[in-house]
Order: sequence, then structure tokens, then C-alpha cells
Amino acid sequence: MIRLGVNIDHVATLRNARGEFYPDPFEAAQYAIKGGADGITAHLREDRRHIRDEDIIRLRRLSVPLNFEMAATEEMVAFACDIKPHACCLVPEKRQELTTEGGLDVYRFKEDLKSKIERLKEAHIRVSLFIDPDPLQIEIAAKLGAPVIELHTGSYAQGAGGELERLHNAALFAQKLGLEVHAGHGLTYENVGPIVSLPGLKELNIGHFLISQAVFLGIEEAVKRMKTLLTR
Ligand code: PXP
Repeated sequence: MIRLGVNIDHVATLRNARGEFYPDPFEAAQYAIKGGADGITAHLREDRRHIRDEDIIRLRRLSVPLNFEMAATEEMVAFACDIKPHACCLVPEKRQELTTEGGLDVYRFKEDLKSKIERLKEAHIRVSLFIDPDPLQIEIAAKLGAPVIELHTGSYAQGAGGELERLHNAALFAQKLGLEVHAGHGLTYENVGPIVSLPGLKELNIGHFLISQAVFLGIEEAVKRMKTLLTR
């Protein structure tokens, strides 16, 4: 069974659209857990467009691990070391983007990432790097000492040719280097099947589709349905 991390960012998007206190991402997380979520993922963006600092502090109290997504900035590293989530997933972040558009270029930023990864590890936080399924990126991720990589499935989800094979080879290579493999972005009930079969895959992080489905089904049921698709 592959673990499912449910990303609840877009519950906060809906809340913030009207400046209200509802829907509450913490309550959403509780329903997701009832539906079988093995973990909760939340991204505190630099511009705080959805999740806010106080959401992360509350989510830390959940009964399942919190995967804290963040840009590799000084501010975020300090915040993470302070609240100590179970895991931190380092992602690239651009102000204008609608969502995380590509993987983190760990080759380009290796010097800066090295010390930040070390600080997170010293705080006993499990570090994951959100990268494209590219052998160079995977090799550098291993050299930087991150125990986990999360493969960006966005291009696969958009139907790009050859992406499934790239993801397959990437997962195999990462496993060979001793990395734990996670994946996510753009996954739905329809396209998740082949991803579940990636070699050694341990966890998927899914957000936008599940929160969208929850409009019709409720979060608990939307998550429950996804969980039935995550058995190899
Ligand atoms: N994993 C990471 C690292 C992400 O940045 C995101 C998007 O916030 C997801 C998974 C989930 O992507 P989606 O919302 O498209 O399911």
C-alpha cells in the first residue's frame, strides 16, 4: 500500500477568497484522516496566498505526520526548525506561478541547499527534495544527503510523451542510490494507476484534485476513493 499525503492548501485558498474563518484547513485535515490519509501536506508560500503560519502550527498537532512544503529560504528554514514538522519538502517557488511548475534545480542551488538540508536534519526533520525525474538531479539529491525525493509528476499528468518511462527510470535510479521515492502533482483518479506501479514508490502527495472532488463527495469520501487506487 502506498502512503497518501493529502495536500489541504486549497481549502485555505477557498477560506481566503472571502476573508472568512471557514473552511478551516485543520478541520479538512481531520476529515482527510478519517478517509484514510496517512499524512497531511501543506505549503506555506512566501506570499501566504493560502496556508498561513498559524495553520501550520495547528496542523502540527494532528495525529498523522505533517509534510511541510516550503521554499528553501532562510525564513522558512528558521520556521521549520522552530515548529519541527515530521518532514519538509523543499520546492521551488515563483511569485507569479499558479502552482509549483517544475522541480527544484538541486544542481544549480547545491551550495545553498547543502547547509539548509543539514540544519533541517539536525532538527530531526525528514528532508525531501521535489525534483524532476532527471538522473543528474537525483544524483545531486543523494549527494546532498536528503533521505527522500519527491518526483514531479506534472508533465506526466499533462500527457507529455515518454514521461512515464522517465519516471520509471528515475524511481529505479533513486532506489539504487538508497533514496526513498515519493511522487506528486496533477494526479487524479484517472491518471494515478501507472504511477502506483513506479518501482519502490512509498508515498504520493495529492491536493488540487482531491479538494476539487470534495466539492461533490466530501473530503472523507474523496480521499477514501483515492486510497482504494493506491494498492499495488
Ligand atoms: N507535491 C508537491 C511538492 C507540490 O508542490 C504539490 C502542489 O502543491 C503537490 C504535491 C500536489 O499537487 P496537486 O495539488 O496538483 O495534487
